[in-house]
Amino acid sequence: MNYNKKSVEDVNVQGKKVLLRCDFNVPLKAGAITSDKRIVAALPTIQYLLEHGAAVIACSHLGKPKGEDPALSLGVVAKRLSELLGKEVVMSKDVAGPDAKAKAAALKPGDIMLLENTRFAKGETKNDPELSKDLASMADLFCNDAFGSAHRAHSSTAGVASHLPACCGFLIQKEIGVMGKALSDPARPFVAILGGAKVSDKLNVINNLLDKVDTLIIGGGMAYTFLAAKGFQVGASLLDSEKLDYCKDMMKKAEEKGVSLLLPTDTVVASAFPNPIDGPVDAKTVDAAQIPAGMMGLDIGEKTRACFAEAVSGAKTVVWNGPMGVFENPTLAKGTIAVAQALADSAATTIVGGGDSAAACEQLGFAKQITHISTGGGASLEFLEGLELPGIACLEDK
Ligand code: 3PG
Repeated sequence: MNYNKKSVEDVNVQGKKVLLRCDFNVPLKAGAITSDKRIVAALPTIQYLLEHGAAVIACSHLGKPKGEDPALSLGVVAKRLSELLGKEVVMSKDVAGPDAKAKAAALKPGDIMLLENTRFAKGETKNDPELSKDLASMADLFCNDAFGSAHRAHSSTAGVASHLPACCGFLIQKEIGVMGKALSDPARPFVAILGGAKVSDKLNVINNLLDKVDTLIIGGGMAYTFLAAKGFQVGASLLDSEKLDYCKDMMKKAEEKGVSLLLPTDTVVASAFPNPIDGPVDAKTVDAAQIPAGMMGLDIGEKTRACFAEAVSGAKTVVWNGPMGVFENPTLAKGTIAVAQALADSAATTIVGGGDSAAACEQLGFAKQITHISTGGGASLEFLEGLELPGIACLEDK
């Protein structure tokens, strides 16, 4: 995949109408935005475009509506965006229909409007060429800054680029700059840390990273399938029994490639998953090779924390995706905190792939000490898998 894409700074935006795909898929509770992080992340590109004489036609999806759904209107995002920019954000009633077209036609340089939720349009998720054309008809230029949606081949993320000159915004530029360099030309030693519940969610990530890293650390729920594949007793821990052979293959691949593959040597266990998730838990630490019957591993133990932190301390590039345990529970968060702390203490380029590990870094207060926290969940995983992301592949090369 070519990461050297034209950005807004490589094209003339003066007097142009720019269709700007953002990822405004923000979390909502009872109709209110609970984190405006994704809106804030889009501001540098929006401000650049407005200050350089462009009119911005912003667009995004929100949630997974089946057709039009007032509960998933982007009106709430328009309001927050307007507060953050300190200027009016015109909101259209449709995606690429008469209202959007009329409002787009009336825009002057320095104006901004937001289209209604792109997934309200029937053809969006099918990458319908007619919808792509309709979207493109409103603008002179397409700018994609929706890294979180770059793994989707939809009309507003990819199809529209067939009809307009296409570049990326600052957010995508940063995401592919930092992660692309880490994967294609990393400063070494390069250490990757993977966690999260299931091996099956990360099959291709493990396989791809083994071709690139010096050390691969595996923690979280997925570690127990690796431990079982080594012939260890894992008690009632999470086990992807269909993936035992895969884990054996990956351990063999690591050995053949000279990659150091680190697994937990001790683990924090309990007799049941905490319910509620942050409720009391009767936990103890045991040898990871001998988890007692009926007990389940829910976090990495103290020795493992020290071992993983030591591997990180010697690294020049670190990529982390997936928590080490049930980090929502204070008793079972120590492994995830230790990894976040190790990244925060490291002088290496540190990258946190989105999703739960990004949320953990933010909740635990380490975000400022990390080089880059990806705004993409699924998109950053596909990036780590080495897949071509349609929303980036469709942009013009430099
Ligand atoms: C995300 O939140 O990961 C992105 O906005 C993509 O959303 P989607 O999974 O609904 O395509």
